[in-house]
Amino acid sequence: MKIQNAPQSGYPGLSLRQLERSDLPLWYAYLRKPDVVRHTSWNLQSENDLLPMFDGFDSELPSSTRRLAIVNDIAGDLIGTIGFHTVSDVNRTAEIAYDLAPEYWGKGIASAVCSAVTEWSFSAFGFIRVQATVLETNSGSARVLQKCRYRHEGLLRSYRMIRGAPGNFQLYARLSDD
Ligand SMILES: CC(C)(COP(=O)(O)OP(=O)(O)OC[C@H]1O[C@@H](n2cnc3c(N)ncnc32)[C@H](O)[C@@H]1OP(=O)(O)O)[C@@H](O)C(=O)NCCC(=O)NCCS
Repeated sequence: MKIQNAPQSGYPGLSLRQLERSDLPLWYAYLRKPDVVRHTSWNLQSENDLLPMFDGFDSELPSSTRRLAIVNDIAGDLIGTIGFHTVSDVNRTAEIAYDLAPEYWGKGIASAVCSAVTEWSFSAFGFIRVQATVLETNSGSARVLQKCRYRHEGLLRSYRMIRGAPGNFQLYARLSDD
């Protein structure tokens, strides 16, 4: 699903807009770095592996994936992405996911943007529950979610493959009325 009216980013100098195919080179430029994907389940061999996700953005189905580009206001360049997958229209739930280029880590950007986008999704999409699954070694992302008032709900054992081996994921969630 395409997002026509993105929210404010919550961070000065950064904006949000629909992620486009033209963003692929900048997105893949950091997703190809081992340090960026180490604590995630990304397993990309080339930029083309990201293309199927764009079919979801082109879809009108209420369960389709959504993703925003986080862009620098001055240069207009993509510096990160944030969005929702595993959307259930029936249950009004979704899973949030995000990533940033490493030059932008440690500045509070993910916390600010995750908070703004989570709040916005409750009204924009009518979600009543947004969850996040975080590889148990990803302490930075777990901290982001805690700062955004997501609650820890448990450990999902062998939940997703991490480049060929099963990984344990922490489950976090925030409800619209939390
Ligand atoms: C995880 C990620 C999004 C964090 O982005 P960020 O903008 O650097 O996060 P913030 O600056 O908002 O930091 C939030 C908190 O996490 C802490 N933190 C950030 N990275 C950390 C790390 N590697 N280890 C421990 N704590 C970390 C910060 O200190 C901060 O806590 P504090 O305010 O109590 O000091 C970013 O590192 C990233 O894109 N990583 C690769 C992709 C990824 O892991 N995505 C999430 C998949 S679930």
